[in-house]
Amino acid sequence: MELGRPKNLKRNIRFLGRWLRNPKAVGAVVPSGRSLATAMAAEIDHDAEGAIIELGGGTGNITAALLEAGIPHRDIIVIERDKAFHRVIAERFPQVRVLQGDAANLRRLLQNAGIGKVKAVVSSLPLLSIPDRICRQIVAESMAVLDDHGVFVQFTYGPASPVSKRIAAALGLRGRRASWVMDNIPPASVWRYQRSSAALESQPPKREQDRRLHKRSA
Ligand SMILES: C[S@@+](CC[C@H](N)C(=O)[O-])C[C@H]1O[C@@H](n2cnc3c(N)ncnc32)[C@H](O)[C@@H]1O
Repeated sequence: MELGRPKNLKRNIRFLGRWLRNPKAVGAVVPSGRSLATAMAAEIDHDAEGAIIELGGGTGNITAALLEAGIPHRDIIVIERDKAFHRVIAERFPQVRVLQGDAANLRRLLQNAGIGKVKAVVSSLPLLSIPDRICRQIVAESMAVLDDHGVFVQFTYGPASPVSKRIAAALGLRGRRASWVMDNIPPASVWRYQRSSAALESQPPKREQDRRLHKRSA
């Protein structure tokens, strides 16, 4: 959390207001602090090609860190379900594409927006307070849009993996804690997930999956 400048203070008050209205959907009382946002951005591979999808933009602190890390505006697509947050983030970063919608429908949202290759999904969705079925759908949708070696990055305030072992196994994911951020309020850790090598070997190549997906939605 950054209280410093009046603009930050205003954004933090707005964030708290949204949390008071719908604590489960917002999932945190204050936005992510700078160190946490920087730790999330550090998981992006700058050499790989493709877009970065940010799930749950809120007031835009993770977006700001992605830009500060040198990721160009054109490569960032933010998905935010809440109308008020969508407006805040679109006004804060007029050059970034911000789509209002539900992360559980990620494939459709990206398809409609004409977004192709994706190298990373960076999520600050409150996965721990989302029902298991929806959580699985969100992670499955994220993996479906990601390249074979793409990465799903998620922070958590909890002590364990924010994607349950059951969901990770069902989706063929391997996950590891990438970093701890003890100076965030509250302290958090950043996790990263990728397809396991077994899942990569057993699945058809991504292009074939895209073709099937296209066929099904046509
Ligand atoms: C914990 S806040 C994180 C905000 C910001 N990225 C940060 O780190 O400060 C979670 C955000 O996810 C959004 N959200 C929750 N469920 C969502 C969903 N299913 N699809 C898209 N956004 C969602 C909330 O509206 C909120 O802005």
